[in-house]
Amino acid sequence: METLVIRRPDDFHVHLREGEMLRRVLPFTAQVFERALVMPNLTKPLISTYKVKEYFRELDRYCEKQGFKDFRALRTLYLTDKTLVGNIAWSQVWENVLAAKLYPKGTTTGSAQGVLDVERLGPVFAEMEKRGIVLSIHAEMPEMHSDYAEDEFLIGPFWWIYQNFPRLKIVWEHVTTAYMVKLLERYPARVAGTITAHHLWLTRDDVFSNPHNYCKPPAKSKEDMVALINAVTSGNPKFFFGSDSAPHWKWQKERAKAKAGVFSAPVVMPLLAQIFEAVGALHRLEDFTSRFGAEFYGLPLNTGKLVLEKRPWKVPLAYTRDLDGEAIEPIVPFLAGETLDWQIVL
Ligand code: NCD
Ligand code: ZN
Repeated sequence: METLVIRRPDDFHVHLREGEMLRRVLPFTAQVFERALVMPNLTKPLISTYKVKEYFRELDRYCEKQGFKDFRALRTLYLTDKTLVGNIAWSQVWENVLAAKLYPKGTTTGSAQGVLDVERLGPVFAEMEKRGIVLSIHAEMPEMHSDYAEDEFLIGPFWWIYQNFPRLKIVWEHVTTAYMVKLLERYPARVAGTITAHHLWLTRDDVFSNPHNYCKPPAKSKEDMVALINAVTSGNPKFFFGSDSAPHWKWQKERAKAKAGVFSAPVVMPLLAQIFEAVGALHRLEDFTSRFGAEFYGLPLNTGKLVLEKRPWKVPLAYTRDLDGEAIEPIVPFLAGETLDWQIVL
């Protein structure tokens, strides 16, 4: 049987949620990844050092309870129009926050308290620049058609930030288009991008036919998907892995006004292996998932290993029980019911 052994990966963009949802979805990330950058867009977003502390205490407690001793949840802070310079300093000093997340207001799940005017946050970006805190951007312009929202954000608010803070490290989260790939390649090393597994697999037609494929920013054209596959298999360190795994209950996805977010954590590593193999680039997988992101964030490389086996398995139709076997509201994973070529050996 074919096996693939790689350095244990990092997920530089994941939503682990709170409470019952957190408890249920945590193992899919913590069993596979050594570290994950956990996003702060909770029901009550992590807008202060205190909230960051409270939430990550809960998360760390679950990790301990569920026996994930080697997993580390990396901290983020949520930027609002009212974020103060002190929030930046304290969250780094006390909570070791690595990145602050900029959600333009109203663009995605949990962005209601996001930023309206980036230019008001000048002192905040200056403090992040001074302290080496990464600016993580959901790069979509509010109230624009999603085909143009990213380009608009990049030529507008992003450009202003980029020019005014020449040493600020910036991540474009979930890059989705060929144009963004081309553009990003021209920026210096301090600007990088995460790419998800689902944007390497979906086009907009797949979103029309299945609400579980709907996320922000949405999957685009076939040409865009191919450009993303080329980017992640090119060996360019500017592109690294962030799953953007974003679970919602089944009922929140299967209704009008479905929530944006694809719950990909249970399938991401097998799916990536399948895609990289299909284009003859399996040897590039490890750099994408386990090196480039860590290097960008200035973290040591993980020392553990992840083993994958080429043995087909069927993705469950839904997760309907908690870890103690009690019935819960179902959560539908990405590619539910489909068969994947690779599986993780735990
Ligand atoms: C994310 C979520 O559900 O929290 N949803 C999504 O569609 N990606 C938020 C985000 O990262 O945009
Ligand atoms: Zn996200």
